[in-house]
Amino acid sequence: MSYEHILVTEQIAEHVALIQLNRPKELNALNLQLMGEVRDALKALDANDAVRVIIITGNERAFAAGADIKQMSGKGAIDMLKIDQFTTWDQIKKTKKPIIAAVSGFALGGGCELVMHCDCVVASETAQFGQPEIKIGVMPGAGGTQRLPQAVGKALAMEMVLTGEFISAERALQAGLINKIVPVELLMDETIKMAKSMSRNSPLALQLAKESVLKSYETSLSEGLSFERKNFYMLFATEDQKEGMNAFIEKRHPDFKGS
Ligand code: HXC
Repeated sequence: MSYEHILVTEQIAEHVALIQLNRPKELNALNLQLMGEVRDALKALDANDAVRVIIITGNERAFAAGADIKQMSGKGAIDMLKIDQFTTWDQIKKTKKPIIAAVSGFALGGGCELVMHCDCVVASETAQFGQPEIKIGVMPGAGGTQRLPQAVGKALAMEMVLTGEFISAERALQAGLINKIVPVELLMDETIKMAKSMSRNSPLALQLAKESVLKSYETSLSEGLSFERKNFYMLFATEDQKEGMNAFIEKRHPDFKGS
C-alpha cells in the first residue's frame, strides 16, 4: 500500500513494524487523510503474521502537534458530525497487536490522544505533552478527557485540559503517562529494544494480554477477572503455550510460531 502522509516499514527489526507520521512542515498535524492512513496501516500490520509489535513515531521536532486546525477551522457542528472522524480513531483503538509510541518534541491535542491510544510510550528528553484545545476555543475530542485522567489522575488531567499548558517528559514520566525517557538520539534504538522484548513472546499471548489489560478500563473487577480467566484458559489451546512451558523445562529459548 502506498501512503502520502505516513511512512511504513514492515520490518524495522524482526517482527517489529514502524509507522512514521510524515507531515514535518505542519509538525505532523493530524489531518483526516493522515489519520485514515494510520488506520489503514495498522489494519494491514495487524493482519500481517510477520509483525508482532508496532511502533508509531514522528520526527525530532514533533510526534504530532494535534488535529489539523486549518482543516477544522471553517467547519460547523454538523460538518464535524458528518465527517465522523472518530470512527477512524475507534478502529485504531481496535488494533490487536501492541503499539509503542516513540515520542520526541510536541505531542499535543490529537497527538497526545494518539499517544494514549498506544500501549507503551518511550519519550525523548525533548518531548512535551499537552491538551491545548482549550486555547483555541474547544476541548479534547479523541479521548483526552477520559484517557488522560486514567493515566495521570484527575488533578493533572484537569490542569492540562483547563490551562492548555504543556508538561515535560519528566513530569509525564512522574505522572505515569509514559514508560521511560531516553536521550533523543537513542529514541528509536530504545523503542525498538522494548518492541523486541515484547516480540520475542507468543503473539497470541501478546494479543490476549493486551486485550485483557485494556478491558480493565471498561469493566467491573469481577467481570474483568472473568474475562482475564477466559483468555488465560484460551492460551492453553495454543501450541505456543506448550512450546513456552517445554522450553522453560528444557532450559532453552522458546520458538513461538503464533499458533
Ligand atoms: C495545523 C499546525 C498545527 C496544527 C502546527 N501547525 N500545529 N497546522 N494544525 N495543529 C503548523 C503551523 O501553522 C506552522 O505552519 C507550522 O506547523 C510550524 O508551527 P509553528 O507554530 O510556526 O511552530 P512553533 O512556533 O515552534 O510552535 C509549535 C507549537 C504551535 C507550539 C506546536 O504550532 C502550536 O501551538 N500548534 C497548535 C497546537 C494545538 O493547538 N493542538 C491542538 C489542535 S486541536 P505555517 O504554514 O504557519 O508555517 C486537536 C483536537 C483533537 O488536536 C481532537 C480530534 C482529533
